[in-house]
Amino acid sequence: MPNLLLLPGDGIGPEVCAEVRRVAERLTNDIAIDERLFGGISLDTHGAPLTDETLAAAKAADAVLMGAVGGPKWDGVPRALRAETGLLKLRSGMQVFANLRPAICFPALADASSLKRELVEGLDIMIVRELTGGVYFGQPRGIETLPDGQRRGFDTQVYTTSEIERIARVAFELARKRRNLVHSAEKSNVMESGLLWREVVTDLHKREYADVELRHILADAAAMHIVRDPRQFDVLVTDNLFGDILSDEAAQLTGSLGMLPSAAIGAPGMPGLYEPIHGSAPDIAGQGIANPLAAILSYEMALRWSFGRHETADRLSAAVTRALDKGARTRDIGGSLTTRQMGDAVLAEL
Ligand code: IPM
Ligand code: MG
Repeated sequence: MPNLLLLPGDGIGPEVCAEVRRVAERLTNDIAIDERLFGGISLDTHGAPLTDETLAAAKAADAVLMGAVGGPKWDGVPRALRAETGLLKLRSGMQVFANLRPAICFPALADASSLKRELVEGLDIMIVRELTGGVYFGQPRGIETLPDGQRRGFDTQVYTTSEIERIARVAFELARKRRNLVHSAEKSNVMESGLLWREVVTDLHKREYADVELRHILADAAAMHIVRDPRQFDVLVTDNLFGDILSDEAAQLTGSLGMLPSAAIGAPGMPGLYEPIHGSAPDIAGQGIANPLAAILSYEMALRWSFGRHETADRLSAAVTRALDKGARTRDIGGSLTTRQMGDAVLAEL
């Protein structure tokens, strides 16, 4: 039996994952669900944010769905024990190098955007963020003390040809199924790794994807264009750090941060890692008011990308759209439904 590993994690993670479980039990009772601790709660219980056993279970699963990790309770813990470090270890251990972060504006929510409705209505961007390389993992890194007593902090931004090529390939393949346009964002005007990025993407495009339109853009200009005229983008491929920043920016302008899922995928046949992008939201954790749709839509992405169940995924996304069209709203999108009631609204449409 195929299996899904749930890692509810911290903050609102367990609340939203409980709704995923209810939806999954309805839609796919032939997919087994296991559950493990991850993040701060794992640190408190097992002494590590990601134990070796949990990493092994993640690699052995068909897909992993996590809620969120971290929170103020663990702010002071040393870096090696931080929830974020556990998350990076999970991503790199699972070798999920391609992070797909859709920024979609649901028509019913266009007025919740910080941009005008005319600019965001119908918005559908796919950010393809490189996830297991770059400055997040580059060596050397550290904080050292200089002879004059000053301290010096340093990180290393590094990309190899094959790392750039495989992420660009994901972007081009996706674009072919969408509007056939790829923007590739880097800082080739100041960074060597950015220059290599541009060369490798250009080469691959020429060799294999000349039918897709490719536009190179500097990452700072991309940030500006995302708020000026976001609908000019289709697929935006970029490195780990720029992708972290640009995906938050794009998500915010959909007006629905609580609704956006993400998928991290690796080589074909390897398990994918799915997560809502909203984070642990400690300010509302434990109140039962978080929006479970981002987590539910992350499960929908798992159905597509890891389980190949496209029809079931279509049914689920249609149910979410109908629930929204009928006015189902949690607090973050201007309503008063609880997490559980939003789960009920989706289940009712199934
Ligand atoms: C994200 C988050 C993570 C990142 C943190 C929590 C390590 O911001 O998934 O975007 O920086 O990748
Ligand atoms: Mg981020």
